[in-house]
Amino acid sequence: MKILITGGAGFVGSHLADKFIDQGHEITVVDDLSTGRYSNIQHLEGHERFRLIIDTVLNERMMERLIRETDHVYHMASAVGVRLIMEQPVKTIETIFHGTDVILKFCSRYRKRVLIPSTSEVYGKGASVPFKEDDDLLTGSTDKHRWAYACAKTLDEFLALAHYKETRLPVVVVRLFNTVGPRQTGQYGMVVPRFVEAAMKNEPIHVHGDGTQQRCFGHVLDVVEGLAKLLDSPECFGQVINLGNNEEISIKQLADKAIELTGSTSKIQYIPYEEAYGEGFEDMRRRVPSLEKAKNLIGYQPTRSLNDIINDVAGEFKTSSAAA
Ligand SMILES: NC(=O)c1ccc[n+]([C@@H]2O[C@H](COP(=O)([O-])OP(=O)(O)OC[C@H]3O[C@@H](n4cnc5c(N)ncnc54)[C@H](O)[C@@H]3O)[C@@H](O)[C@H]2O)c1
Repeated sequence: MKILITGGAGFVGSHLADKFIDQGHEITVVDDLSTGRYSNIQHLEGHERFRLIIDTVLNERMMERLIRETDHVYHMASAVGVRLIMEQPVKTIETIFHGTDVILKFCSRYRKRVLIPSTSEVYGKGASVPFKEDDDLLTGSTDKHRWAYACAKTLDEFLALAHYKETRLPVVVVRLFNTVGPRQTGQYGMVVPRFVEAAMKNEPIHVHGDGTQQRCFGHVLDVVEGLAKLLDSPECFGQVINLGNNEEISIKQLADKAIELTGSTSKIQYIPYEEAYGEGFEDMRRRVPSLEKAKNLIGYQPTRSLNDIINDVAGEFKTSSAAA
């Protein structure tokens, strides 16, 4: 099959590319390398079933041609990361909403299967966990920029479901909960690579807030297994589906674990949210997915633990610093 992965030089997209190459598919990646890295897909360059195009998904003429000639589309390109969203809210909204609009328009025109990733952020300040796909969504006021990400992704969801309703576009919307593992960079505020890198350098670990906020972390290889099944399952079309891991840990405990598993002498430093992200930042206390729907539809069951994640991320840092 021919598979187009937008944002395929990014963290999740590059693991998807690996999986589909292993399965024998022909892969085209479109990425503007804004947050992605060439090194994530460098090992695939030269493969006869792999092609990289460095360009933006906002290039409509190119996207129309690429979508017309493909079978499945995984639209992983997006502005991602809390820091980026606080710093560049205009770019965030435009990339997310306009990019998805372009993809859905051409997938609808040429009747292609398409996966649109959304985020656990859309559950906003919802306090009743685990979050189920049909729960109400409760975001903050529009002068708090962090909610721009959630709202733009929510609009993507509405648009995808509208295409399904009007023309039965074979589209699946996936709400990803914190997905982590090798190739994720800490540059845009992602917590696991930041903590593991600091621990390995025996530098202070910066915990934002008081560290009692809780999160669940899914290994990227578990998540990618789920993503790869969704477009092969017509019963998922027109559905919104949570994906991730549902084991909870506080951010303080995560820092402790990173220190313990890397044998580090790092100490934890607590940084107030305003200092880390500026005015207008609000955080959520808990975010736990209900994974029932994914289990019922595609048999999704994460198998990798947080220890596996930290060990894999630490292993990657070790290899890259040895090569540097
Ligand atoms: N990783 C997570 O925990 C997580 C959680 C929730 C949702 N998601 C969603 O999953 C998807 C992939 O996220 P990721 O973690 O791999 O992030 P990432 O930043 O590593 O990947 C996004 C990729 O999109 C590319 N990109 C950005 N704008 C582009 C444009 N205009 N044209 C072409 N390429 C562009 C970037 O260069 C990058 O390679 C995103 O839609 C994100 O919102 C991820």
